[in-house]
Amino acid sequence: MKERENEKMSQYTEEINRRRTFAIISHPDAGKTTLTEKFLLYGGAINLAGSVKGKATARHAVSDWMEIEKERGISVTSSVLQFEYDGYCINILDTPGHQDFSEDTYRTLMAADSAVMVIDASKGVEAQTRKLFKVCGMRGIPIFTFINKLDRDANDTFELLDEIEKELGIATCPVNWPIGSGKEFKGVYDREKRCVISYSDTEKGTKEGVATEVNVEDEATLRSLIGDAAADKLLEEVELLDGASAEFDLEAVRAGKLTPVCFGSALTNFGVEIFLQHFLKMTTAPLPRKADIGVIEPAENEFSAFVFKIQANMNKAHRDRIAFMRICSGRFDANMEVRHVQGNKVMRLSQPQQIMADERKILSEAYAGDIIGVFDAGIFSIGDTLCMPKEKFRYEGIPTFAPEHFARVRQLDTMKRKQFVKGIEQIAQEGAIQIFQEFNTGLEEIIVGVVGVLQFEVLKYRLENEYNVEIRLENLPYEHIRWIENKEEIDIAKLTGTSDMKKVKDMKGNPLLLFVNSWSIGMTLDRNKGLVLSEFSRN
Ligand code: G4P
Repeated sequence: MKERENEKMSQYTEEINRRRTFAIISHPDAGKTTLTEKFLLYGGAINLAGSVKGKATARHAVSDWMEIEKERGISVTSSVLQFEYDGYCINILDTPGHQDFSEDTYRTLMAADSAVMVIDASKGVEAQTRKLFKVCGMRGIPIFTFINKLDRDANDTFELLDEIEKELGIATCPVNWPIGSGKEFKGVYDREKRCVISYSDTEKGTKEGVATEVNVEDEATLRSLIGDAAADKLLEEVELLDGASAEFDLEAVRAGKLTPVCFGSALTNFGVEIFLQHFLKMTTAPLPRKADIGVIEPAENEFSAFVFKIQANMNKAHRDRIAFMRICSGRFDANMEVRHVQGNKVMRLSQPQQIMADERKILSEAYAGDIIGVFDAGIFSIGDTLCMPKEKFRYEGIPTFAPEHFARVRQLDTMKRKQFVKGIEQIAQEGAIQIFQEFNTGLEEIIVGVVGVLQFEVLKYRLENEYNVEIRLENLPYEHIRWIENKEEIDIAKLTGTSDMKKVKDMKGNPLLLFVNSWSIGMTLDRNKGLVLSEFSRN
């Protein structure tokens, strides 16, 4: 009996250890979608025909769901993809490229063990790269950089690395080095193997061409392969690089302090597999996670997971709400009972599935590192823990970002009150928006707070398309929000603030204050001795 248990456990361990779960981030258009599609190609997860379709459809084929994304060409929601490569089981979490969805990105990063950052070689670090990187930094996870589009004229390589170091504050360690760019792109130099892998422009959608490898010491062959000028430049740069760049330090990589950098061209499929192989060697299997009872080890503990994302009406064909969870430990079996800790209920998860863009596959089992989606009748919230029925621990919560933009919502057809309330509440539960009410009134006056203004558009669009409710949004000037920490000790009615301060309450009835500028916050604190304000809701 014991032996069989041990055997089962070691089988879990094997499955868990071959999992790699990472998020992929980039400024829009840097090539995240193209790179993801090429990764999938290696794993055979999508067929060749799928990726050689017309550009417009190919771009949206894999990860975009909502019409609004298609219209604007940005990825609003994030999707999850799984594929097998070289014995590894890889989970890729796509993140929205738009800064207005940085909160969604943060939640997705909570479910990842590392991140891949894609940078356009001719643009360097861009606005969204900076913002998304900051979010990554908050998580302290390892970051692997892929500098893309070397088949086009690129910025100077040393300058690109310098920019990453200065702008993002992370040390870089090139794993390989590009030889020229654009029409003069000759390939990459692999620093570990000390050899040059020559560029072969393969047809879109096909696997990498057979590369010619030449040892850098074999100067004659090198010169005949890439030409004298490129060889001279490379030899000079290699010398500089060996003298100047940071030593490779795996510990620093895993602590998120050093990023390994690879160069390539996702479109022409050069350097993608090299990157994938290096990445898989350096990144980790599912990592232990902190819970209130201590650290939970993926392979030593039985099933546990946490909800990092909730999404309703993802697809018009499936009018439903899905809770996405990251399995943190053990093995999940579709028939087993689990405890939803926050709801204090033991249950079977309803139709657990693996979700790949529009396609859904019912799962029978999954392991730590995997992401599953389950039907949610409205019981789960972001950050909730699931574990075995005999246990009752909670994973660390996922912080909510303070909204920075506010608007009053006016419903145009007052007859549709019920749909309106249902819609806005559901969208708020997904965490895309936060809703507040005037302090002294009920739901008739709703104020919406968002982290990025594009969320307003998503709200309007979704209410119209999913709930058949038209709204008008009136922008409000507030930019700062503060919860009242010591609400029991404060008489809110008597609170005196600046003339531009607004008293509201959140959906749980907690009082809070909205301010136009940070100066007013200080003034209000001065005028109300004993008042304690917080940027976060602790309830
Ligand atoms: P994203 O998900 O990061 O937003 O970028 P995506 O992969 O959609 O790529 C954006 C554009 O860049 C696409 O052009 C894509 O083909 C191109 N691209 C991606 N990787 C490379 C590369 O390595 N080299 C070159 N030259 N181009 C690359 P597109 O389909 O023409 O879109 P659009 O520019 O017409 O919008």
